Amino acid sequence: MRLVVPPGVFRPRSDTWMLAGLLHREQRIPGAHALDLCTGSGALAVAAGQAGARTVTAVDASRRAVLAARVNGLLNGVPVRGVRGDLFAPLGGRRFDVIVSNPPYLPAASDVLPDDGPERAWDAGVDGRALIDRIAEGAASHLRPGGVLLLIQSSICGVVRTLELLEQAKLDAEVVERRRGPLGPLLAARAQELEQRGLLALGEREEELVAIRARMPAGGVRRVAPDRAARRPALR
Ligand SMILES: C[S@@+](CC[C@H](N)C(=O)[O-])C[C@H]1O[C@@H](n2cnc3c(N)ncnc32)[C@H](O)[C@@H]1O
Repeated sequence: MRLVVPPGVFRPRSDTWMLAGLLHREQRIPGAHALDLCTGSGALAVAAGQAGARTVTAVDASRRAVLAARVNGLLNGVPVRGVRGDLFAPLGGRRFDVIVSNPPYLPAASDVLPDDGPERAWDAGVDGRALIDRIAEGAASHLRPGGVLLLIQSSICGVVRTLELLEQAKLDAEVVERRRGPLGPLLAARAQELEQRGLLALGEREEELVAIRARMPAGGVRRVAPDRAARRPALR
């Protein structure tokens, strides 16, 4: 993939590439209408197109990111429809077969979200969930029957809560991949503050990147995986 990442636009990292790998393995992607929420450079929008999506829509709050996503689509032969706006707001009632998102999920000092600057790409309120919660609550209204949401977050901001919200929205949700590693530089810089707030155990300097797949049942009927409750206690 060829990518131009202008100053001020989030440079793709390990979480981006973990989701890109999942897109390539996603059975719903060939011929799909795909949506990349919080697109940044458009890396995941391009990955969706390369994996076989028929149309790709990319949303970001940053004008510069939307432009980057369009340019990167062109560079890679993927027509990306870039839209500026707040999460699902610019989409009206449109529904998609695949929604992918690597949203901001870093716990911040305040619940006031930055409306510009580099922090907008990662700050997500005091618990890191400001965007994740809205995506988990809103996805069902933008998925077609049988459609899937692929969402990534850190273990530090509560995986169980995300699964609960998705299930409340009648989606079948499960963790499909986790990768443990050292805290990224942004989280590491906030480690002491996060320890004081109980989001990190004392001395803990690792996190897991956790990818969640949530599926809208084909007939709109909820199925519950029998072993899901048993897996829960291991998650955070
Ligand atoms: C962590 S970056 C991810 C970028 C890209 N998806 C990737 O994986 O490389 C998060 C992106 O979300 C965007 N963003 C922040 N708040 C948003 C909102 N309310 N609606 C849409 N996009 C938002 C930021 O501008 C940033 O580009």
